[in-house]
Amino acid sequence: MALFSAEGWLFLLRWFHFLAGITWIGLLYYFNFVQTPFFATAEPPVRTGMLAGSLVGRALWWFRWGAMLTFITGWLYILHMMFHGYGGVREFFASAYGWKIFFGGMLGSLMWFNVWFVIWPAQKIVIASATQVAKGGQAIAEAAARGQRSGFASRTNTLLSIPMLFFMGSASHLSMGDPRGPGAKIGALILLAIVMIATEVNAMKGTTGPGKKILATLNGTFWGGFILTAILYFGLAGLMR
Ligand code: HEM
Repeated sequence: MALFSAEGWLFLLRWFHFLAGITWIGLLYYFNFVQTPFFATAEPPVRTGMLAGSLVGRALWWFRWGAMLTFITGWLYILHMMFHGYGGVREFFASAYGWKIFFGGMLGSLMWFNVWFVIWPAQKIVIASATQVAKGGQAIAEAAARGQRSGFASRTNTLLSIPMLFFMGSASHLSMGDPRGPGAKIGALILLAIVMIATEVNAMKGTTGPGKKILATLNGTFWGGFILTAILYFGLAGLMR
């Protein structure tokens, strides 16, 4: 039976990858499209109740573990393609498939980093603060600032999800030529590095300026995501044959 062949096991890995991916990104969109706008106008006791009453904590559990499983299954798949599919790192990066999935995988990995090392640590403080308030105590002083930074990182992830899914899906389903030579590979790496560093610096430090403006609204976030996709796609396609 095909399911119990090597192809079948690989397919099961992909299946778990999508399942985990939709769990993660579904909750990311819930936070950004539903919960954050709701919190912005909700009465403080309602907000505190949702935070202290573990609604947000439960959502964050599925969110961060969905991200972890997506990340692990995604990189297992890449390693498989690199060493079994293409027969080595050099061969993998001599293909357009390798570059497209690398672009998607790296953007997804940056998002995973934001979940585990920015959003979750900040949300732990926000929840602890709300729990103290619910019990009649004082709010934790840094909770508001940490919550704001986490919101910014979460908006950054929403923006990045647009090019990330474009490259993930296009790797096998939208043809592109292979890299022209070593210069093209270096160019692709520089392009990806500039985009990743600029978005991450903005997520970590940005409080004013155009970066903040783009992420301030969902409209700006969508536009930012589609424009970034175009920059990455046309940039990469320009470096390929
Ligand atoms: C965290 C980093 C991620 C890595 C390293 C990664 C890696 C991969 C790899 C290697 C594939 C197989 C591509 C192929 O040969 O067709 C893949 C496919 C896929 N991934 Fe990811 N991925 C990541 C994040 C995500 C996320 C967050 C989602 C959100 C839903 C996602 C959704 C998908 C989908 C739908 C496919 C199937 C695409 C197709 O059949 O063409 N991935 N991913």
